[in-house]
Amino acid sequence: MKKLLFCLGLWLAYSPFAIPQQTAPEGPAADTSSLLTGVAWYPEQWPESRWETDLSLMEAAHIHLVRIGEFAWSRIEPQEGSYDLDWMDRAIALAAKHHIVTVIGTPTDAPPAWMTQRYPDILRVNLNGQRDEHGNRRQFSYTSPRYLAFCRKVVEQLGRRFGHNPNVIGWQIGNEFSFDSYDSYTKKLFQQWLRDKYKTLSALNQHWTTAYWSQTYTAWEQIPLEDTRGNPGLLLDHRRFVSDVWLHFENNQIDVLRAQITPWQFITTNIGGLAWSDRWDHYTIAHPLDLASWDDYVGQGQVDPYKDGAMHDLIRGLKQKNFWVMEAQPGFVNWAPINNALDRGEVRRMAWAAVGHGADAICYWQWRSALNGQEQYHGALLGADGTPNPLYTEIQQIGEEFHRLGPELYGTTPQSEVAILHDYDSRWAIDFEPHTARYDQLQVLLDFYRPLRDQAQSVDIVPPDADLDRYKLVVAPSLNVIPDKLGQHLLRYVQHGGRLVLGPRSGMKDAFNALDVHRQPGPLVAPLGGRVEQYYALEGPVPVSGTWGTATADIWAEALSTRDPQTRVLMRYGKSNGWLDGQPAAITRQLGQGSITYLGTLLDASAMNAAVRWMLHGSGVHPVFGPLPHGVEVCRRTRPGHTIFILINENQTPVTVPLPHPMKDLLHAGPSSARVVLPVHGVAVLESNP
Ligand code: GLA
Repeated sequence: MKKLLFCLGLWLAYSPFAIPQQTAPEGPAADTSSLLTGVAWYPEQWPESRWETDLSLMEAAHIHLVRIGEFAWSRIEPQEGSYDLDWMDRAIALAAKHHIVTVIGTPTDAPPAWMTQRYPDILRVNLNGQRDEHGNRRQFSYTSPRYLAFCRKVVEQLGRRFGHNPNVIGWQIGNEFSFDSYDSYTKKLFQQWLRDKYKTLSALNQHWTTAYWSQTYTAWEQIPLEDTRGNPGLLLDHRRFVSDVWLHFENNQIDVLRAQITPWQFITTNIGGLAWSDRWDHYTIAHPLDLASWDDYVGQGQVDPYKDGAMHDLIRGLKQKNFWVMEAQPGFVNWAPINNALDRGEVRRMAWAAVGHGADAICYWQWRSALNGQEQYHGALLGADGTPNPLYTEIQQIGEEFHRLGPELYGTTPQSEVAILHDYDSRWAIDFEPHTARYDQLQVLLDFYRPLRDQAQSVDIVPPDADLDRYKLVVAPSLNVIPDKLGQHLLRYVQHGGRLVLGPRSGMKDAFNALDVHRQPGPLVAPLGGRVEQYYALEGPVPVSGTWGTATADIWAEALSTRDPQTRVLMRYGKSNGWLDGQPAAITRQLGQGSITYLGTLLDASAMNAAVRWMLHGSGVHPVFGPLPHGVEVCRRTRPGHTIFILINENQTPVTVPLPHPMKDLLHAGPSSARVVLPVHGVAVLESNP
């Protein structure tokens, strides 16, 4: 009830006819699930006399959210130890007057000049030993105790000032954690991290097989800080160390905030890099957060609905609940090789697709380009004269639709019976030793995701240690690192009746990135009743045929063997390099009500569709909506007794979509209908309460 009150309160409070709230709305902040559109706004870059105009234009576009502050440290603390937050207070209050709530970004992604000049030890050092300078951003060392202390102090001031402000609904820690550092202090910290993990050098030497190339370490101080050419055991541990350091970086601020803010102000951090970035483990970083959020940029070209959808699903999987798009592309960016604009209508289509995958807020970066600075050419809602750009009206339409349909979407979330396992240890292990330049792990994920999304019409992407029992089918495209404990977790899922499908390169390494002596799939060789006899990087396609038809496989091929009479061969290679000829390419074994299947190669799209049909049929998974014309995406969000389908036309032509039963399109007035006509980039938001 509290949640509903809060959301209703938020919706009413920021509708055009309400007065700004004076008391803190009820309810937990993490449920700010009345759909919101917002913008990144930098009041510190403009005369205060301009703010009212900006906020009025935002309100006219049904924008009810601003994010401020994440690059304002030199304005917040113009001199060491003296803080000026009055301007921020006035900006937040003025925004509230225009029915706009605020998320505050802690300003720790860009330290002020007085700090970098007076304390150069806070500056990061790159892999070549060069220390960063002032004049850009992210020039800090993420391990510097002095920098962490400065971060703590400024966040304490912010939390104390705004932690009970009824118009501040959340906090963003820093901005897109990005660059690690290779300074001497970080190196010492890494060596200590290793010592805490392995306790003895002999344990480290054993797990890293440092007898190889005479690497054997006789002192912790000998261990290098390496992130590209080192021992695979070291490289994997270094990435885990980087993740832990960023976790400490954010907890250093979260601890201070939690002590200062009301429980309903949420805490997040915005994940950059198309959500596919892997400088650190997103699950580690998401752990202390209330809400996952990411920055959804297309860059060059047009949106790929499968890639964008998979990234949304990956982010939703971080907390396994709805998320925010903290930055979205307002037409075009300025950092791609060609900064083309998204087509007219594509920004709106992307916004509704994000909501369909579980987003509850979309915030555009940025409101208006600063008159100078490194991002003058980046897309924005206003032009250099402060009047709207053409895109403003499209975002105004999104805002109006979000505001009108917010209550219908409130408390709903995507529900899936199918999960894809996604794991940073495995991604890193393969990326350290790709063995072929053709193994693009995002494309491998999408090779499995596309047919699953098309046929099941809803897919979760979760870490391998998630609770899997809610899924009828679990697919692990390249689960390269399967420690014994994870092997047992996956086996339990199968023994509980789950259908597990392992993709190529699964189960090759143990927790130390060392070769698993069982061969692949490691601890699951025995339950599978088969294993990988040899893996082959392919220069071109090879024939393969069997249960899923006659097809080709490419990039990677593993020759499998069966070692149990119950293990069946599903697909075999045809004639190719001699080694693969006639060997199993896919095998499966029933275990109780469940099953384990191993696919040791990357099939062509048609065979992958057939394979997924086989997987879904065997798992009893049915599409959430039903038959759809090509190029129409369906997303389902449900809450008890209430189901919303969002249909999106991704074709370059209009399309008529027959509906499984008469439904009402909430975007447009009118009676229920048994079909809906979608224009190019068209969207329908259908209430399905048969
Ligand atoms: C990132 C940053 C923003 C801005 C945008 C530009 O997402 O978070 O500050 O630089 O890129 O696309």
